[in-house]
Amino acid sequence: MLKKTLSDVELGGKRVLMRVDFNVPLSKDGDIVDDTRIKAALPSIEYAAGAGASIVLMSHLGRPKGKKDPEKSLKVVAYRLGELISCPVKFVADCIGPAVEEKTRGLKPGEVLLLENARYYSGETENDPEFAGRLAQWGDIYVNDAFGTAHRAHASTEGVARLFDTRVAGFLMEKELAVLGGLLTEPKRPFIAVLGGAKVSTKIGLIANLLERVDRILIGGGMAFSFFKAMGLEVGDSLVDDELVPLCGELMNKAGREKEKQIYLPVDCIVAKEAREDAEFKTVSTGDIHGGWMGVDIGEKTIDLFHEELKGARTVFWNGPMGIFEIPSFAGGTRRIARTIAEITASGANTVVGGGDSVAALNEMGLAGKVTHLSTGGGASLEFMEGKELPGVAVLENK
Ligand code: 3PG
Repeated sequence: MLKKTLSDVELGGKRVLMRVDFNVPLSKDGDIVDDTRIKAALPSIEYAAGAGASIVLMSHLGRPKGKKDPEKSLKVVAYRLGELISCPVKFVADCIGPAVEEKTRGLKPGEVLLLENARYYSGETENDPEFAGRLAQWGDIYVNDAFGTAHRAHASTEGVARLFDTRVAGFLMEKELAVLGGLLTEPKRPFIAVLGGAKVSTKIGLIANLLERVDRILIGGGMAFSFFKAMGLEVGDSLVDDELVPLCGELMNKAGREKEKQIYLPVDCIVAKEAREDAEFKTVSTGDIHGGWMGVDIGEKTIDLFHEELKGARTVFWNGPMGIFEIPSFAGGTRRIARTIAEITASGANTVVGGGDSVAALNEMGLAGKVTHLSTGGGASLEFMEGKELPGVAVLENK
């Protein structure tokens, strides 16, 4: 770890301003659907509180676009956090201004205060220096434990950090960087990446970077169809990003040139008339998708092929579902891949899963604890694995 962490600083009697990623999914009634990200921040919060610091937490929730949207309030998170640390967490319905000043002034060592959604102000996403300066008032030292938001150069993740002499990583940030960094630098081989999801545009940089580092890339999900198009195959009404088709072709050529069949694409697919649970569907061979049909999941032969490949892997990085996972009829490929990854973990493989949908699939199947590491970062883990520097990390102090 090249960055200083919480364990490198003196915390007793200090006010710690800590950026966490409490961007959790909420139900229509406003209840927290998945508190993984809150739990993931507990080690840093509990450590700092135990060391005699008072803690001011900041986060975003959703994308309220600079407006005070009550449906995106962090109040419900303060309550849940209090339950998890068995001690009430204070909450203030703003993140700057006199109400916050009053609450922070009264904060005692070991106490935790959560500020309201930083994205209620447009200065947050604009990384406005004036807004960052107002946030900076609430701490003596700055800690960033929000790995999930570290790819955003926002006021609470980047601008504010510049205003502190002491600006360090929290334990979640440290763990994520160590695990994901380990995949890029010293993976046990064979190292296989399983990539899926609808849009190839969000994964193309990742594929290019991983091609240099992994032994195989298994591609499923909607993104596979841009590769099929590049190979001149029929894709019917499947999702294709025409602009990126040439690049997909280049990547296939590169993979073929440098290592035989380094990219594996589905050999069969489930195709449907529509992306609806009650739509007519059937399995066809790749290249046999005609007009009026769209690819919605990988087929049985592909599942077997991917399963066989994965069985021999010692390191796996998985990001993105193999089909339209939200629709039960088209969730089979994703579920089977999730099971295979859990199985090979039990036999000693190092398995890392990033991205909301793949993590959601594991959670839903009760397999979340059966992989080596579930990343709390969606976009952040993708950008990190693409080899990009994350602004929220770059700004922290080096060891
Ligand atoms: C995430 O959920 O990936 C992070 O919290 C970042 O959220 P954002 O994509 O709205 O910036």
